[in-house]
Amino acid sequence: MTVWWLLLALSYLSLSAGLQKSNKYDGYKVYEVSSKARSAALELTISELVKNESYYEVFSGFKGGNSAKVMVHPDEQVNFVKLMAENNAAYDVLNRNVGLTLSRQFEMNQMLRQWFPYNGRLGTERYYTHDEINQYIEDLARDNPHRVFVKTVGKSYEGRWLKTVTITNGDARRNKNVILVDGGFHAREWISPAAAVHLINELVENFESNADLLLDFDWVILPVVNADGYEFTQTLPDNRLWRKTRKPSSSECIGTDPNRNFDFHWNEAGASEDPCDNTYAGPKPFSEPEALVVRDLIHSYAGRGQMYLTLHSYGSLILYPWGWTDAVPDTVDDLDEVAAEGKKAILEATGTEYRFGPSTTTINYAAAGASDDYAFNAGFPISFTMELPFGGEDGFDPPASDIDRLVKETWVGIAAMARRVIQKYPLA
Ligand code: ARG
Ligand code: ZN
Repeated sequence: MTVWWLLLALSYLSLSAGLQKSNKYDGYKVYEVSSKARSAALELTISELVKNESYYEVFSGFKGGNSAKVMVHPDEQVNFVKLMAENNAAYDVLNRNVGLTLSRQFEMNQMLRQWFPYNGRLGTERYYTHDEINQYIEDLARDNPHRVFVKTVGKSYEGRWLKTVTITNGDARRNKNVILVDGGFHAREWISPAAAVHLINELVENFESNADLLLDFDWVILPVVNADGYEFTQTLPDNRLWRKTRKPSSSECIGTDPNRNFDFHWNEAGASEDPCDNTYAGPKPFSEPEALVVRDLIHSYAGRGQMYLTLHSYGSLILYPWGWTDAVPDTVDDLDEVAAEGKKAILEATGTEYRFGPSTTTINYAAAGASDDYAFNAGFPISFTMELPFGGEDGFDPPASDIDRLVKETWVGIAAMARRVIQKYPLA
C-alpha cells in the first residue's frame, strides 16, 4: 500500500515537471474552420495554404465538406486568422497549445504505464506498446491452444515482428471463411490498435456471446501494421503526431504513408510524391515492408476472405471502395447493406453517428494506393476502412479514460457488420 502511494506521489511530481518541458508543438493551435454556404474561394485558400507543410497540417479535410480542422504553426496564426476573416469564414480554436496537450498526455501515459503494468491481459485502462500487444497475443495463444494461433508474418523496417492472431472456435475445421482485420496503419491513430485488441478480447474471452461469429468463420487480426511508427509516437511528445512508416527516403525526410503504398492505381490520386509530405506514396508501390505484409495477408486469405476491415481514426466513418476514383463498384448495394448495419448498431448502442459510403465521395478526396481498395480488388467482397470517432483535443488523442467507451462502441459496429457478412456470404 505504501509503495503504491509513493508511486502515485512520484508520478504526480513527474507529471508537473513534464509540464515545464517544451516541445516542437508549443504554441501550435488547431482551428476548426467552417462556412455556412459552401465557398469555393475559401476551399481554395485553405487548400493552397496547407500545401506549406512546415506551417500547416490538415487533420480533416475540407474539400466539399463544410468544415476543416487544421493545425497552424505559431508564426502563421496571425496570417491564417486574417485570411479566414477575409473569406468570411467562421473558426473555432479547438486547441490553443498543442505542445502543452502533448506534454501532458505524454506524462499521463508514463504514469498509467506504471499504474497498470502488463499483467498478462490487456484491458482498456491505457494505450499499450507494440511489444505488449505482441506479448498479449502470444499469451492468449498459450492459454487457448485450441482456439488461438499466432503467426509471425513479417518484420517492420526497424525489425519489429509483425504477428497475426487467428481466432477460431476450436473445432479444428479447416478452410472456413475469413474476416481479416488490421489496425495501426497510421502511427498516431492510437485508438485503432486499442480497438483491434478489444476485438481480440471479445472473440477470445467473451467467446460464449460471440460463438456465432466463429462457427463458419475464422478471424485473422494484425493489430499494429505500422509498428515502427506506432512506437515512435510513444517515445516523445514531439513524435506524437507522426503518421508514416519510419523507413528513410531519398531526401532528408523519413517515412511513407503505408496507406498510399499499395499497388493498385498507386500514386494516381490523393497521394504525394514529396517524401516530406504526410501522404507520400513511397518511391514505388510496396516499397514499405509493412505494406507488403498486409498485401501477402490479403492474398493468402482472399479465396476465403469475406470481409477486410482496416481500422483508422478519425471521422466516424465506414468507407468502402473505391477510394482512388469517384466511380462506385457494381456491388455497391452489398457494401451499403453491410455498412448500414454497423452504423445502425452503433447509433442504437451509444448515439454516435457514423456516416458510410464510397470513400472518395464520402470523405471528399480520392486517395489511391490504400489497402481497402487493394483487398476489394483482390477478392474480398466487403472491404471497409473504419474511421473511429474524433477524440481528445486533436482528434487522434482520445484520453485513456475514453478508450473503454470507444473500443466497445467500435466492437458493437464490427460485430453487427460481421453478422450480416456471415449471413450474406455463408460458407460454401
Ligand atoms: N483516412 C484514410 C487515409 O487517408 C482514408 C482511406 C480511405 N480509403 C481509400 N482508399 N481512400 O488513408
Ligand atoms: Zn489513418
